[in-house]
Amino acid sequence: MMNAFEQPQTILVLGGRSEIAHAIVTELASPALTTVVLAHRGGDVVTIDGLPDGVTVHCVAFDAIDHHTHEEFVAKVVAEHGDLDVVVQAFGQLGGDDVNTDPVAASELVEVNVVGAVSSGLAVAARLRAQGHGVLVVLSSVAGVRTRPSNFVYGATKAGQDAFATGLGHALVGSGARVMTVRPGFVRSAMTEGMDEAPFACDPSDVAEAVASGLRRRKSVVWAPGMLRGVFTVLRVLPGFLWRKLDR
Ligand SMILES: NC(=O)c1ccc[n+]([C@@H]2O[C@H](COP(=O)([O-])OP(=O)(O)OC[C@H]3O[C@@H](n4cnc5c(N)ncnc54)[C@H](OP(=O)(O)O)[C@@H]3O)[C@@H](O)[C@H]2O)c1
Repeated sequence: MMNAFEQPQTILVLGGRSEIAHAIVTELASPALTTVVLAHRGGDVVTIDGLPDGVTVHCVAFDAIDHHTHEEFVAKVVAEHGDLDVVVQAFGQLGGDDVNTDPVAASELVEVNVVGAVSSGLAVAARLRAQGHGVLVVLSSVAGVRTRPSNFVYGATKAGQDAFATGLGHALVGSGARVMTVRPGFVRSAMTEGMDEAPFACDPSDVAEAVASGLRRRKSVVWAPGMLRGVFTVLRVLPGFLWRKLDR
């Protein structure tokens, strides 16, 4: 259970190798934290440097596309580690060069980023609802707020994930469980390595600070960096020809 300072005892990360998720775990580490479960493809040992003594990191196998296993997976984690205070939905793929043109590549991306998010999100939500507490932190993206011509399939998947997360958050009101949707801009991580940086680029630690602050303030949506909220209020309604120009 979270303590009075909204500090978790137990964190489960879906997509346990994500650089942003590792920064979030590090940021949320406090004397209250005892257990971190990193769920990732393969399930082999992954470490997070700098966690305080007394925190045990467990690694388990999890694949976002194994939808039929997600309920059983959550039940097993709970049986082994107890109630879940914070669950970070961090898995995601950007897609290759062909994703905007190849139907198979695009549907594979949808399978991970949308279907996997819905399936694992519902499995986690059922557990949090039964506990009567806990937060699902969903790593969405500003890419889903308005899809860009250059990555509209990825953007569409993040829009789907974001709509699911915000809707689930509304559905959970009154249950004690909640959802916090996180909308980062360009983050310097493995996912964006070698890419030209977008304006307002930030580091995983900046996203982690926004998440920790959002959890303390019981926010339902956070942007990282925070100024992107205002920026996208404008970009959302920019005429199409200007929006396309900005994407060059
Ligand atoms: N970086 C950015 O600019 C940015 C901006 C906005 C939002 N986001 C979102 O933030 C989240 C984390 O991204 P990140 O920047 O931390 O990138 P990252 O380090 O590449 O992490 C993404 C993780 O997703 C995992 N993954 C991919 N397919 C999976 C599957 N089928 N099942 C389970 N795990 C799977 C990968 O696992 P493997 O190690 O097994 O490949 C990888 O560890 C993603 O949802 C991303 O869309 C990122």
